[in-house]
Amino acid sequence: MSESIGDLAARAAESASFIRKAIPALPTVALVLGSGMNELAEGLPDAVTIPYAEIPNFPVPTVAGHAGNLIVGRTSGAGLILLQGRFHYYEGHPLEVVTFPMRVLKLLGVKTVILTAATGGIRADLRPGNIVCLSDHLNLIGSNPLRGPNDASFGPRFPDMTEVYSKKLRAVAREEGKRLGINVIPGVYACLPGPSYETPAEIRMLQTLGADVVGMSTVPEAIVARHGGMDVLAFALVTNAAAGVGVAPISHKDVLEAGKKATPLLGKLLRRVVLRVSDPGGTGLTAEMSTLGGDV
Ligand code: HPA
Repeated sequence: MSESIGDLAARAAESASFIRKAIPALPTVALVLGSGMNELAEGLPDAVTIPYAEIPNFPVPTVAGHAGNLIVGRTSGAGLILLQGRFHYYEGHPLEVVTFPMRVLKLLGVKTVILTAATGGIRADLRPGNIVCLSDHLNLIGSNPLRGPNDASFGPRFPDMTEVYSKKLRAVAREEGKRLGINVIPGVYACLPGPSYETPAEIRMLQTLGADVVGMSTVPEAIVARHGGMDVLAFALVTNAAAGVGVAPISHKDVLEAGKKATPLLGKLLRRVVLRVSDPGGTGLTAEMSTLGGDV
């Protein structure tokens, strides 16, 4: 990129100040919706929607299945910033643009980022509709969103990535899954640049490398969110068997349909998790919500 980190910080600040002016009291939990999961944005009481196109400096998604809205609303009483639509490296955006919303969320005071994504299941026991909670990732994009000058006000030059996906938040996801009868499966996400799906040989390579699911998003955002000191939780919805693992060819249409079908279940889990992490004490990870009934 020819522009400097100062430009990035200034652009993110401009976006954040626009959003803050539109919605002064912002929640500290943000949720990024993956392909085919738009329905999760429906039915949020008191929701205020800001189209990305209205936010200064915000990119606009180009992919079918990704609307472009920042929505602030409540789910079962807990506040939530919802990013309906995200940006991918395969669209041609530089990683700095792909991850720009994470910079803005940091400036808005967000503490917890929950990422969701459609993925191919590499592990043989994974089935479409399974929910994998990321325990770790392999960044195979071929670059890093933090490449280039570092702005120390966002985070350190060499950020630690030992625990990208918060152990505490993963425990919350597991507990809430148990209460709902949803098997929340831990797994490693391999991120490839796309947009072509993988070949069977590439999937065998990823298997050897220890990947459980494969996708084309999530990892750049997770890296930038961690760089900014936010806690990250990520759910990979398995929409198809990865190439060569299943017999059927993979199509974006099938991915969207499978995503849509599994969305209500993921929604139930997300509502519970958001309740748990957004308690007013800020820690969000303790007793309070565990006494709540199944009001989802
Ligand atoms: N590969 C990569 N990305 C994906 C897949 C896949 O099989 N399914 C959904 N997103």
